[in-house]
Amino acid sequence: MIQYLYTAPSGVAVDILRLDTVDSLAPGNKWFKLLPNILAAEKAGAQCVISFGGAYSNHLHALAAVGKARGVATVACVRADADSVLSPTLQDAQDWGMALHYLSRSDYRRRHDAAFLAELKAEYPSAYFIPEGGSNALGAAGCGNIVDLIPGAGRAYATVVLACGTGTTLAGVASTIADGVSVIGIPVLKAEKFMAADISTLLTALGGDRGNWRLDHRFHGGAYARLPPSMAEYMQAFEHQYGVLLDPVYTAKASYAVQSMVDNHEFAQGSRVLLIHTGGLQGRRGFGLDVGA
Ligand SMILES: Cc1ncc(COP(=O)(O)O)c(C=O)c1O
Repeated sequence: MIQYLYTAPSGVAVDILRLDTVDSLAPGNKWFKLLPNILAAEKAGAQCVISFGGAYSNHLHALAAVGKARGVATVACVRADADSVLSPTLQDAQDWGMALHYLSRSDYRRRHDAAFLAELKAEYPSAYFIPEGGSNALGAAGCGNIVDLIPGAGRAYATVVLACGTGTTLAGVASTIADGVSVIGIPVLKAEKFMAADISTLLTALGGDRGNWRLDHRFHGGAYARLPPSMAEYMQAFEHQYGVLLDPVYTAKASYAVQSMVDNHEFAQGSRVLLIHTGGLQGRRGFGLDVGA
């Protein structure tokens, strides 16, 4: 589960937590985020679980898989045109029984509006709604269990680094990691204006902010799902050297960030760093890349 990657000349040693290998149905951070939500939906007697995402969303893909496995009906509110060709992600989701509810770009932008959600709730009266990216307190609490996979709750590490889309996974990890470990989140989109506040809100819901985390906004590469050539080259070399596939949207950027920080001597000499591989390999298909064996 934890794989050694390299020791830099400064003595900084980097390991990787392979969440990409934990669950074939909902790999990466997904099972952790979704399970508490699915249990809540079941407890509430919801007739279906609805969430939001784009055509290559790892979150929708995993929700469809978990829904099928647990016999829970799922609906995806997708940012796409009904007449566009189905992405492999949505094709899988549909094959697993997920209903696709298409939203135009302008409607999709309203996904957090109370009025828009009220309209959707009227359409699906007994549905359980999960926000885009599984970003709610239950999802964050579930991500706290990721730390169970790290011996000693991570106390051997000075720093844990992971990619952030909404910051929910970081909130969970920061809430349960051993005292003294600092957690660095690498936003994969331009998120200076909102992500830290969103994480604080989640941490408050989980019982309080321990002040053991920060975001490093240098590595988003310009936009969500945009991988600049330097990062793409790095990703290819990494995969070749370590035999670990990365996803171009999340862990490629986090891994590049770790390497840059090692090269710039930003970690204390001789300290240990844990990079979390949060999965998302199915999304490689959107980049014309294979998803491995
Ligand atoms: C593969 C992968 N890694 C990381 C993340 C980021 O997680 P979060 O939104 O909790 O920050 C996501 C999005 O959920 C993801 O799909």
